[in-house]
Amino acid sequence: MKKRLLSFFLFVVSLSVSAQSTATLSAQTDPERVINRHIYGHFAEHLGRSIYGGFYVGEDNKKIPNTAGVRNDVIEALKRLKVPNLRWPGGCFADTYHWKDGIGPKKDRPTIVNTWWGGVTENNSFGTHDFLNMCELLGAEPYLAGNMASGTVQELIDWVQYVNFDGESPMSKLRRENGREKPWNVTYWGVGNEAWGCGGNMTAEYYANEYRKYATFMAGWSNDKNIFRIASGANSADYNWTEVLMKNIPHNMLEGVALHHYAVIDWNKKGPAKDFTEQHYFATMKSALFMQELVDKHTAIMDKYDPKKRVALVVDEWGGWYEVEPGTNPGFLYQQNTMRDAMIAGVTLNIFNNHSDRIRMANLAQTINVLQAVILTEEEKMILTPTYHVMEMYNVHQDAFYLPLTVKTTDYTLGKEKLPAISGSASKDKNGATHITLVNIDPKKGQDITVSIDGAKFKSVTGRVLASKNIQDHNTFDKPDNIKPVNFKGANLKGNTLTVKMPAGSVVALQLK
Ligand code: AHR
Repeated sequence: MKKRLLSFFLFVVSLSVSAQSTATLSAQTDPERVINRHIYGHFAEHLGRSIYGGFYVGEDNKKIPNTAGVRNDVIEALKRLKVPNLRWPGGCFADTYHWKDGIGPKKDRPTIVNTWWGGVTENNSFGTHDFLNMCELLGAEPYLAGNMASGTVQELIDWVQYVNFDGESPMSKLRRENGREKPWNVTYWGVGNEAWGCGGNMTAEYYANEYRKYATFMAGWSNDKNIFRIASGANSADYNWTEVLMKNIPHNMLEGVALHHYAVIDWNKKGPAKDFTEQHYFATMKSALFMQELVDKHTAIMDKYDPKKRVALVVDEWGGWYEVEPGTNPGFLYQQNTMRDAMIAGVTLNIFNNHSDRIRMANLAQTINVLQAVILTEEEKMILTPTYHVMEMYNVHQDAFYLPLTVKTTDYTLGKEKLPAISGSASKDKNGATHITLVNIDPKKGQDITVSIDGAKFKSVTGRVLASKNIQDHNTFDKPDNIKPVNFKGANLKGNTLTVKMPAGSVVALQLK
């Protein structure tokens, strides 16, 4: 009797902690709609311990195994992630960076002061060759952010010439003298960064004119069919910025327009990275989900000037931004990474996948030891964060055909406020497998989701889940595997109906065949 009472009680509890949502998957592909792998890009700035200690430990380092100074553990982890592109050297740093400081014998390179990030001395030991060779090791395409604010047109076109020109020229000669015969053929080029702020505090009109000048001279040194110039884009909801750029820059000299948006509670009171309250969590998720409105509104402006969607929206900085870990240099932006960050990554990547007709590139800020990092290092130790695991679970969408997944979700509520609990996206890969990624941001309630499938018959479903007891949970150097994806047993397929039992605060990736 006692046993029956207990199971009845557990049944009632489970009813009260699970919510019901529905979704429809259109499983028919449109050959024109591909989720560009570059949506899964990353960002490495000369900031704190991102480059030095994160990626690069120096060729002479005997303690940490490395290849040409780049940590082997990092290379291996990032290869598994299938990093499609890596943005470098900034960020705000990019507009103070003079690339010629970072070539030639390392002992002769000048030092500079990194005025944006902690005022530390930068010895330029990690420069153009180091970065581009590292990208080759990772199998990632480089995305170079050019200095527009404190550099010159000549300096930027010299850089293009140095890395991309195959013929005889002063810069290709210099490259060869520095040991690299063939050009690297870099496709992606940013023309300044945050020109409305750290990149020169310009007006949109002034920046658009400057951009036209820089973009004109950047052509001619590469296979120009491949050069992809990205204009420094809006700060979050500055729609006027996008409007002016789309109106004032001829579209034959503009391949991408950027957008930066961080999930932040309040720029003056960002809240802790790991010991946060549910109020902090809710506010962060609200800011992360604001990406949906941003994408809709910036896209509508771009559609007005470019209905054929030739120019890409490039969200080249996104992620959660909190207070630095206590006791660390405030200029280094080092923060822990919890299940909250997994939620941010999951919902943001779903938004990008679902808008992949316009968003064709994005960069999480940043890869190692800075902001919403996928990797944290401490001397010879390295850990993978919950964000890493989400990026890895989602990499099945890279270059796959987009499939529409419409979700009708219940709400995650806190007090009088509410947010959509469930988000999702779907694709079919080149080998014929269909993938659905789902996020339940509600940290207290599980979700039973019923997905109706249209346009295909599947025989099997398998999956993985990333979940933990508390939304504040994270990996540490002592417990590196506290959070990692495990096989998911909560999905069932019956005819055209898929049911998914999602735990509270979880990310699920399903494969249908
Ligand atoms: O990612 C950190 C900083 O945030 C970047 O340097 C800058 O572009 C942005 O404001």
